[in-house]
Amino acid sequence: MDYRTPPGLEKPWTISLAQLRSFEAVERLGGVGRAAEALHLAQPTVSTQLRELAQGLGLTLFEPQGRGLVPTPAGRRLAQTVRELGACWQQFEDDVAALQGLRQGRLRIAAVTTTEYFLPDLLGPFARAYPGIAIELAVENRDAVVARLERGDDELAAMMLPPAHLPLARWPFLENPLVLIAPADHRLAKRRRLQLADLVAEPLLVREAGSGTRVVTEQAFAEHGIQWPARMALGSNEAIKHAVRAGLGLAVLSRHTLAADPASEGLVVLPVQGFPLRRQWQLVWRQDRALSLPARTLLDDLRSRLGSAPQPA
Ligand code: PGA
Repeated sequence: MDYRTPPGLEKPWTISLAQLRSFEAVERLGGVGRAAEALHLAQPTVSTQLRELAQGLGLTLFEPQGRGLVPTPAGRRLAQTVRELGACWQQFEDDVAALQGLRQGRLRIAAVTTTEYFLPDLLGPFARAYPGIAIELAVENRDAVVARLERGDDELAAMMLPPAHLPLARWPFLENPLVLIAPADHRLAKRRRLQLADLVAEPLLVREAGSGTRVVTEQAFAEHGIQWPARMALGSNEAIKHAVRAGLGLAVLSRHTLAADPASEGLVVLPVQGFPLRRQWQLVWRQDRALSLPARTLLDDLRSRLGSAPQPA
């Protein structure tokens, strides 16, 4: 423990901030009368403050010139120091106001369903650091998140396929590999290498219309020139996993929906050429709206922990 008073604070100060403020006004405006008017003080009050300040410091701060006052070199140096103190104090007040702004409030975030497997973990440190900020996480499929962005319901959205028709700032923050899954005991599970064409006889399970996962899946098949119509559409990633495990078909899902060891869930990732499909999770926000302090603070927190480059999944 250092018991010494920091340099500059060890002298018992006999001068006051009110004196310094009056002094600065006299130096800037060139006379006691004008300073008194600007500060809404009586002229004798300012004169007394100036005299006491000069005595307290043991310095001559002004010299009379004509009907006004001009600062001595020591007076000019003091005026500069007072302005620096003012800037420092302003910074303190801004910082405190910012801390108050984070003491309570609300932060609305929209997230596509697949991000529910990792987003709460990413929000954890921010949520613990600012317990007064209520986080509302709306988890919906892609089309619903786009509608929320159009209405401006949320400040931030986490998604894979941001819409092009809105003025959005985008920050890709995580890789999103999409894999082709089968039940762990599937006859093709032992194969070292597969082509999409090997699979098209199998029933295909897809997410509901409006899902970004479904859009990317259909795009990938079209790029490979593969016709693989869906046998069944299911409304959630978990429903698809259960259906695949039950042997109802194969599906393309984000790797994030699976356990570290998919076998523990009765599933297997098939080694299909062209897979995983490499996409990215992005955080987006409307450029035509100002972000609140909680939203900016969360972005700073994530950037400092994840870096600006996408992380490997
Ligand atoms: P979704 O998520 O399939 O749950 O819509 C993926 C996305 O759209 O980013």
